[in-house]
Amino acid sequence: MARILVTGGTGYIGSHTVVELMQQGYDVVIVDNLSNSDQAVLDGITAIVGTCPEFVHADCTDMSAMDALFARYNDIAGVIHFAASKAVNESVEQPLKYYRNNVMSLVTVLEAMKKHGVHNVVFSSSCTVYGQPTAQHLPVDETAPLQKATSPYGNTKQINEDIIRDEAHANSALHATILRYFNPIGAHPSALIGELPNGVPQNLLPFVTQTAIGLRAELKVFGNDYHTPDGSCIRDYIYVVDLAKAHVKAVERMLSDKPEEQVEVFNLGTGTGLSVLEIVNTFMHVTGVNVPYQIVGRREGDIEQVWAKADKANEVLGWRADTPIEQVLMSAWKWEQKIRGVEG
Ligand code: UD1
Repeated sequence: MARILVTGGTGYIGSHTVVELMQQGYDVVIVDNLSNSDQAVLDGITAIVGTCPEFVHADCTDMSAMDALFARYNDIAGVIHFAASKAVNESVEQPLKYYRNNVMSLVTVLEAMKKHGVHNVVFSSSCTVYGQPTAQHLPVDETAPLQKATSPYGNTKQINEDIIRDEAHANSALHATILRYFNPIGAHPSALIGELPNGVPQNLLPFVTQTAIGLRAELKVFGNDYHTPDGSCIRDYIYVVDLAKAHVKAVERMLSDKPEEQVEVFNLGTGTGLSVLEIVNTFMHVTGVNVPYQIVGRREGDIEQVWAKADKANEVLGWRADTPIEQVLMSAWKWEQKIRGVEG
């Protein structure tokens, strides 16, 4: 079966995608600089799948390393490019780190692909490119106008989408699939891989599970005075395993049934918005564990509400994110217990 290069393949979404690809029979090579992940993730993948993916410890901004990788694995049929930094706050404090990592890695990967005759790329983008959609654009579909990014992180996603479009315009052999993720959460049902946040989690779900297990005293809910039914922000929380499966569908589509459009864009979400308080209450209900929380002021830069219209991915990719939220939240809880050595 075809070989796929997965950049950032030991990361959170990357590792779940590697599992789904391998379970569908793809040969996988991972390249990762381990800046925000651990090589032990490979053991988790191996325990789930039964074989270890090929692993290259390198930085995607390093052209000679990428050149050597493509020369060594000369049968790569497509690339899924996850490798990027993703902490919004950090990107505000260290913008150059984000522009270097996130922009240079895509440029380098595209150059290496071109040099080695690889023409298919799937790119990890984000719903952050939409900013706060107007009421008329909610749920948001792929044709909604993009808005000026509110962080360097968000800007790198927009710049990268533009780089892909410009390169596709110049290079008619290139096929690209841009996947705009909504809010990925949860962990593999085996609890052998999951999210490993560095330090104090910035994202909601890891903060909830760490509070539930007693690592954090209480969750701060950022704002209850938004124009939403319960006053807290609304997002489209998508199960990371469902998200991973969408990547397999995107790869299949590029390799077999060449899309007419050189660059295709898909929203990957469930199509349903949930509020912060709904997430916290549902988590407490399904796990039976209390999560102490306090309502505090709004978080700067937060978007009030955004959820996906995912019809295009449903129809064109034949994919749907349909794992019930209760099951997703349980998977996150099982994973938190596993990494803290607590019996579930
Ligand atoms: C944002 C971006 C997303 C990006 C991600 C990277 C948008 C719409 N989304 O996600 O594209 O990939 O950052 O990190 O721009 N919350 C709390 N308490 C907490 C943590 C979060 O109440 O301790 C709330 C937030 O206010 C928000 C929701 O939970 O309403 C989700 O927050 P988070 O998990 O950080 O994701 P986004 O900000 O949506």
